[in-house]
Amino acid sequence: MGYPHPSHPKETVVLSRYFGDAGARSYDGWVQRGGYGALATALGRSREALIEEVKASGLRGRGGAGFPTGLKWSFMPKEVTKPHYLVCNADESEPGTFKDREIMRWTPHALIEGCAVAAYAIGAERCYIYIRGEFTEPWRIMSAAVAEAYAKGALGGNSLGSGQRIDIVLHRGAGAYICGEETAMMNSLEGKRGNPRIKPPFPAVSGVFGMPTTINNVETLAAVPHIINRGAAWYKSLCLGNPKSTGTKLISICGHIQRPGNYEVTMGTPLKEILYDMAGGPKPGRTIKAVIPGGSSVPIMSREEAEAALFDYEGIVEKGSMLGSAGLIVMDDTTDMVYQIWRLARFYAHESCAQCTQCREGTAWTTKVLERILAGKGKQDDFQLLLDLSENMTGKTICVLSDSCAAPVVSGIQKFRGEFEAYMAGAREPAMADV
Ligand SMILES: Cc1cc2nc3c(=O)[nH]c(=O)nc-3n(C[C@H](O)[C@H](O)[C@H](O)COP(=O)(O)O)c2cc1C
Ligand code: SF4
Repeated sequence: MGYPHPSHPKETVVLSRYFGDAGARSYDGWVQRGGYGALATALGRSREALIEEVKASGLRGRGGAGFPTGLKWSFMPKEVTKPHYLVCNADESEPGTFKDREIMRWTPHALIEGCAVAAYAIGAERCYIYIRGEFTEPWRIMSAAVAEAYAKGALGGNSLGSGQRIDIVLHRGAGAYICGEETAMMNSLEGKRGNPRIKPPFPAVSGVFGMPTTINNVETLAAVPHIINRGAAWYKSLCLGNPKSTGTKLISICGHIQRPGNYEVTMGTPLKEILYDMAGGPKPGRTIKAVIPGGSSVPIMSREEAEAALFDYEGIVEKGSMLGSAGLIVMDDTTDMVYQIWRLARFYAHESCAQCTQCREGTAWTTKVLERILAGKGKQDDFQLLLDLSENMTGKTICVLSDSCAAPVVSGIQKFRGEFEAYMAGAREPAMADV
C-alpha cells in the first residue's frame, strides 16, 4: 500500500506525525521517537490518577459515538476480583473510513502503548486487538510489533520491569461489518456468531467471557500516550472554541475530491477548510453536491450545510448530521443521489445480522423500493413508504445498524427529493433494469 501525502500546513499533526516514516515501525525506532515513555510513566501512577487525567483531557471515543473515554474507564469495577479485559476495536469497516488502518500500518507501537496504558488503568492484564479480516498488511505489521514488544519486555509478565502483567492478543476478524459493533465483537471473540447483544448488561459489568470489559477504538487508544506525556491541559487546549470536543481528529476523505487521504485537524476546524484547502476541493469544473461526514451511517449534508459546519461533535450535529467515524464521503454534481442512497441501503441489507425484524425486513425492503424507483417504476406513495420504513427502523432495534440505513434515506429524500421525482416522472433515464 502507498505512502501518505505530506502533511498540510493547516493540519495539527499528533497521531499522524510519523505516518510515512517506516523507521517508526520497529520497537527501537519508536523508542527513539519518544515511544514507551508514557507507559513507563503510567505504570508508576495509580489507576485512579490515570483515569482522572484522561477524563480531564476531554478525550471522546473516536469509534463513532463520541462517548467520553475517561468516564467509560471509570465504569470498570474498582476492585479487581475477577479478570478485566480491554478490547481494542480495530475492525474499521465503515464505508469511507481508513484512519485506524494508517495508525496500525505506520505506528503499530503507538497503538500497543495506548492499549497497555489503558489496560493498566482499567485493571486488565489482557487486551484483545480485534483487527478487520481484510487488513492483511496492518495485521502483518501489528503481529511483528506485538512480538517485538514482548521480546523487549514492554509486554508480558513484567511490563517495563514494573511487575505488572500486560498481554496483548491479536484476533483477526472474518470480514463482517457488524462485528465492529462492540457487543457483536465480544460474541465473535468468544467464538460465537457475531450478533449484537441486548444492553444492559453493559460491557463494564458483563463483557467478553462475562467479565468486566472496556472497548475502545484504535484512534482513541493511540491518543492516550500523548495525554499521559503532555498532560490533560495540553490536550484540552487543542480545540477551536468548543470545550466539549477536544484534541485532534483523524479524518479520512474520499470520493470526488482532488487530494483524498487522511488528514489530522484540531477539533472545531471549519469543514470548508478541510474540503477546499487541505483536500483541494472538487475536480476542476465540478462543484460539491453533498458530503457524508461520518462514514456512511449518518445523515447526508448538502454542500451549503457542509460549508457552514465546524468539524467537531457538536458542530456537525448543529448542521443536521453526526461526526461518526469522521470518514468524509464527497459527492460532486455528477452524482446520482438516488443511486448512491440505494448502494448504501444495499450495503446495510447485506451486513444486517438479521436478528431484529425491523432491520432484517426494513433494510431489504428499502433496497427494493429504491431499486423500483431507479428502474423508472417508482410512485409518489414510495416517498411515504420509505419514510415509514425508516421511522420503524430507527431507535427500535438491538443495535444502530438499522438506524444507519435509515439516516441517508431520510436525509436524501429531504434534500434531494427532485432527483427521486425525476425518476418517477420518467424525466430521467432508468439507472436499472426492470425489477
Ligand atoms: C454496526 C456498527 C459498526 C461499528 N463499527 C465500528 C468499527 O469498525 N470501529 C469502531 O471503533 N467502532 C465501531 N462501532 C462502534 C462500537 O460499537 C463502539 O462504540 C466503539 O468501538 C467504542 O470505542 P470508542 O469509545 O473508543 O469510540 C460500530 C458500531 C456499530 C453499531
Ligand atoms: S439492528 Fe440489525 S444488525 Fe443490529 S442487531 Fe438488529 S438485526 Fe442485527
